[in-house]
Amino acid sequence: MKKYNFNAGPSILPQEVIKQTADAVLDFHGEGLSILEISHRAKYFQPVVDEAEALFKELLNIPEGYRVLFLGGGASLQFCMIPYNFLEKKAAYLNTGVWSKKAIKEAKGFGEVEVVGESTNSIPSGYEIPQDADYFHITTNNTIFGTEISERKLQEIYAKKGNVPLIADMSSDILSRPIDASQYEVIYGGAQKNIAPAGVTFVIVKESALGKVSRYIPTMLNYQTHIDGGSMFNTPPVLPIYTALLNLRWLKAHGGVAWIDQRNQQKADLLYDCLDHSKMFVPTILDKEDRSRMNICFVPKPEYEELKDDFFKFASERGMVGIKGHRLVGGFRASCYNAMDVEGVQALVDTIKAYEAKL
Ligand SMILES: Cc1ncc(COP(=O)(O)O)c(C=O)c1O
Repeated sequence: MKKYNFNAGPSILPQEVIKQTADAVLDFHGEGLSILEISHRAKYFQPVVDEAEALFKELLNIPEGYRVLFLGGGASLQFCMIPYNFLEKKAAYLNTGVWSKKAIKEAKGFGEVEVVGESTNSIPSGYEIPQDADYFHITTNNTIFGTEISERKLQEIYAKKGNVPLIADMSSDILSRPIDASQYEVIYGGAQKNIAPAGVTFVIVKESALGKVSRYIPTMLNYQTHIDGGSMFNTPPVLPIYTALLNLRWLKAHGGVAWIDQRNQQKADLLYDCLDHSKMFVPTILDKEDRSRMNICFVPKPEYEELKDDFFKFASERGMVGIKGHRLVGGFRASCYNAMDVEGVQALVDTIKAYEAKL
């Protein structure tokens, strides 16, 4: 039976990327060695990192003056590396859920933190960004509750940030839509949703933004270290970086971010339309503008609450994987990352409709 992978992360990767990774596990580059056993200093690995950085920049239209780093530690380590490198006195944060909250907790260990707005089931607006902040931090997609900062609300942020550096956690929507990278000093995220298997973290950093805090920054937590070392100061996650490269090549070959943006919209429209007209379910995010295209959350209406487990079993028997909602939200969550195709989302819609036909 075909499986449809709606896991929230680690999550679906394109089949051809998985196959190419499997080939490299057996024999990398025709060298007679597995990618699992080569040195990161091998002459044929540096081009992997270089091409991955170049493709990242090309696909997201990242201007001159930025570097793309591939590090360990997950987005969670970035929650502390960001204030370590940028917070001198005060930072402003937008709290849009669990991950923003974790980032805020770490920043509080380094200086004053002003939370300018907070909400989990919608994206706040109407707040001011304090102009004396060292930076303003946003989480563009709320993986757990299923909200996402729309292009319109991002434009509002760009307009009102003034000279305050903008920093974004884009773990769960990077490369899913075009972004104006020039508006950001740093964009970071765990790569295990739209880019690679677990184990690598991407950091897009504007070089001129560094070196402005007075504290000592431990070597491994200093972005400059990794810029100077070309992501190879210490042993990088070799296999996930290679798979990231294959995935970036896949995206480029299919038409890049413009293509995936359009496909992601088509998928989200398909599933939300089904949920908005559903007999049994309601989407948890009511304001259409704030709905995530990556993580689509829905719960049974109160009168169908007791059918939740039965629906889960029904959907599992039809190959739906990873649709159980996060424990903080309950119900269901379909993560529709880049590698999920329209056919997969259609299969979920057909499953919901087939179940409802029995009610
Ligand atoms: C938006 C967001 N930020 C941060 C994280 C944490 O990432 P990591 O597990 O790589 O530390 C996640 C993980 O799901 C996430 O969705």
